[in-house]
Amino acid sequence: MRKLYIAGNWKMNTTTTEAEALVKELKVLVADMTEVDMAVAPPFVYLHKAVYLAKDSQIKVGAQNCYFESKGAFTGEIAPEMLKDVGCDFVILGHSERRHVLGETDEVINLKVKKALAAGLEVILCVGELLEEREAEQTEEVVKTQLLGGLKEISAENMAQITIAYEPVWAIGTGKTASPDQAQDVHAYIRKLLADNFSVDVANIVRIQYGGSVKPENAKELMGQPDIDGALVGGASLKADSFAAIAKAAV
Ligand code: 13P
Repeated sequence: MRKLYIAGNWKMNTTTTEAEALVKELKVLVADMTEVDMAVAPPFVYLHKAVYLAKDSQIKVGAQNCYFESKGAFTGEIAPEMLKDVGCDFVILGHSERRHVLGETDEVINLKVKKALAAGLEVILCVGELLEEREAEQTEEVVKTQLLGGLKEISAENMAQITIAYEPVWAIGTGKTASPDQAQDVHAYIRKLLADNFSVDVANIVRIQYGGSVKPENAKELMGQPDIDGALVGGASLKADSFAAIAKAAV
């Protein structure tokens, strides 16, 4: 049985004061929710403090991106070893905003996944199609390319450190959620790809989160689907009460 995993991607939001308050409030609200894994991904500059504040709670803290080198002349980049050093548990890689706004390719994402795993971080690897790709019935092809591209040369053993997030781009920040059936179909397809390309065991243990306008009102039905093992939440993770309500609704 896969444990539900609810992660909050704060994106480029919050101030120091807001970030601190959010972690502190969340810590209280989810204190007894041991049946769900909870995580937050604040902007880089707030990670150190978030790790400190989340100490002695079940809230994992991670970053929204990292680079694929350990150190050197890469102005503005952050190494996975640095994330590990400040106490991060995981990193989100391949988010659609990194793909489509910042031009990341599957090759670059794959280098980052390998480097992050080598540094001892868990990875949430995001995949998902654009609206025009869904309308052209290319969803499976796009998801397959992104999934297998991002996971190239990753061993079955390493897959225990990986979570997949299916985030249809047309549902991100738009208020349009994939219907539970639409999401379940893609999640089942991703699980089949994991079984075919790694093993049935890997397919059974890897958690697949859904992301895209997840709210307390739709969380229960989405996470009631057999292959939806949690959520990667954007907007609704910026308020402790709505983020905690999503976790409560899911169990
Ligand atoms: P929203 O929940 O704001 O739609 O964002 C989803 C997302 O991109 C999480 O990574």
